[in-house]
Amino acid sequence: MKKQLLILFSLLFLVSCIRYKKLVADKNAITETDASRANEMFPGTTLADLQKGKLIYDANCGKCHKLHQPDSRSADSWNKIVPPMSRKAKLSQEDESLILRYVVTMAKKN
Ligand code: HEC
Repeated sequence: MKKQLLILFSLLFLVSCIRYKKLVADKNAITETDASRANEMFPGTTLADLQKGKLIYDANCGKCHKLHQPDSRSADSWNKIVPPMSRKAKLSQEDESLILRYVVTMAKKN
């Protein structure tokens, strides 16, 4: 009996972990709402642009230091930081622009 209970609790624990992970992943996902917000600041920006920006950001901006989460800073500070950091990361203008649109759109709201 004790063993069955243990198994039951382990299963419940596992399920809650998986659900929590999904919740966190959803929270970080970029949505159409973000894309329309992006469009107000950067006309013509699509959801795909933001997703591409995230990929380039994740691949290039955590090499020398930890990957700073976009919502750790305001849009203002991202506007100041991204250009010099893109020089450091030796990114193209195109990649810099995609990163900027992604982090500014997902920035901390002030
Ligand atoms: C070649 C190494 C290197 C790469 C690649 C790099 N950084 Fe940095 N980053 C640094 C160094 C060094 C500092 C700390 C000193 C400074 O601020 O210049 C820093 C600091 C920062 C900070 C903190 C600045 C502050 O004032 O709090 C942010 C945010 C940042 N980087 C973002 C980025 C982003 C975005 C990218 C990708 C485009 C990136 N970094 C790529 C080296 C790098």
